[in-house]
Amino acid sequence: MPSRFPNLRHVDHPLIRHKVSSLRDRTTPPHEFRRILSEVAGLMTYEVCRELETGPVEVETPLERTTAHRLLRPITIVPVLRAGLGMTQGILHLIPEARVGHIGVRRDELSGNPEGYYVKLPPDVGAGPVFLVDPMLATGGSAAHAFNLLLGAGCTDLRLVCLVAAPEGVARLGREFPSIRIYTASLDRELDSRLFIRPGLGDAGDRCFDT
Ligand code: PRP
Repeated sequence: MPSRFPNLRHVDHPLIRHKVSSLRDRTTPPHEFRRILSEVAGLMTYEVCRELETGPVEVETPLERTTAHRLLRPITIVPVLRAGLGMTQGILHLIPEARVGHIGVRRDELSGNPEGYYVKLPPDVGAGPVFLVDPMLATGGSAAHAFNLLLGAGCTDLRLVCLVAAPEGVARLGREFPSIRIYTASLDRELDSRLFIRPGLGDAGDRCFDT
């Protein structure tokens, strides 16, 4: 059966489900929330990297010369400030050589529209795959803002890695950026009238940083 969202990959695994249940729990304190968020990001990385290109390299093992395979192009992780920071270490743990760019976007509480306030990217960010990282995909406004910045900077291989996604945001990004794949640990039910993801987990930035 064709998926409702061809641009979406639901990264479903018992360990991820287990950890997401702790992130949803309102009694999970910030230091635990940060640790678990980072762990889930690490577990998702395996799937997010599945189609990355590798190329042959000659290496000397202790016994003989052989052909092995290495990632071909530099990877850049771009957290959306603030909450994306909570996933970055988990990905860096598995890809320590990745570069890290930053995009600051805040969502206006009344209109829900994104307001960009910071951008710092490697000058050759388009030289390899870029993982835009933000735990929450609600209306999709923040991700769309960041995608436009990254496309303008020459990125051609973009992925969004989030934790909980609302169908409304997934649909919007599918319409506006059909070739960009979204990875999420959960596709939640809906956005409510205040544009909060339901059931969701509250505001990931506030829960990470205890604000
Ligand atoms: C939250 C969240 C996403 C954005 C999602 O950030 O971390 O960045 O909202 O909403 P959208 O899909 O409707 O754009 P927020 O603006 O609360 O900033 P913060 O991370 O600094 O708390």
